[in-house]
Amino acid sequence: MSAAKKNAAIGALKFIEDGMVVGLGSGTTTGHFTRLLGEKMKKERISVVGVPTSYDSEMQAKKAGIPLIGLEREVDVAIDGADLIKDGYVLKGGGGALTREKVVDYAAEKFIVIADEGKIGNGKTYPVVVEVVPFARESVARALEKMGFEPELRVGGKKLGPVVTDNGNFLLDCTGKIPKDAARLERELNSIPGVVENGIFSRYFKIVIGNEKGSYEL
Ligand code: A5P
Repeated sequence: MSAAKKNAAIGALKFIEDGMVVGLGSGTTTGHFTRLLGEKMKKERISVVGVPTSYDSEMQAKKAGIPLIGLEREVDVAIDGADLIKDGYVLKGGGGALTREKVVDYAAEKFIVIADEGKIGNGKTYPVVVEVVPFARESVARALEKMGFEPELRVGGKKLGPVVTDNGNFLLDCTGKIPKDAARLERELNSIPGVVENGIFSRYFKIVIGNEKGSYEL
């Protein structure tokens, strides 16, 4: 699987040119991309600045030697992973970084998803992750239940109690059916007071899929 993730990352490198502002997604696949981008910069003597989407991606970028900025400049391209690829949208948020990921990915002129083939979701399901202001967790959960979802507060693995995101919020992992018009659900979820962002990403430029042999684009 790690060759597939790395190959997806290699497949996205060709979209990067000298002088670009590059959104750096979060997760193991983008971890490969960030490391490879650092190597490309040194080898080809090109200059790129990154916009990290989480503390984790910030640390990875620093390790790779990529200079970082915030959103003070336009983002040329954002490269980000996915948890599940469906027809017309991807689901994200497994790493809890969905809010900053969406801010950076949607701000980019081109948002490119990179993922291993196993993420293609024919018949597979993944929860819709919803980041909520802590105070609103119960009212948001009730609203989600009325929409037919089963929300579950994400709790920490090596910490008692709820996972607190990089933005100081909580996460609800919501099991349920996503309608054909996922973009509409994406907008509706964000209209619930207290919801910060959700893990449906329906706007992207391209998806680069990696497998053991190489990569291809969807
Ligand atoms: C982070 O919140 C997620 O959206 C990640 O982008 C997603 O989980 C992909 O992770 P991997 O590349 O580790 O599979």
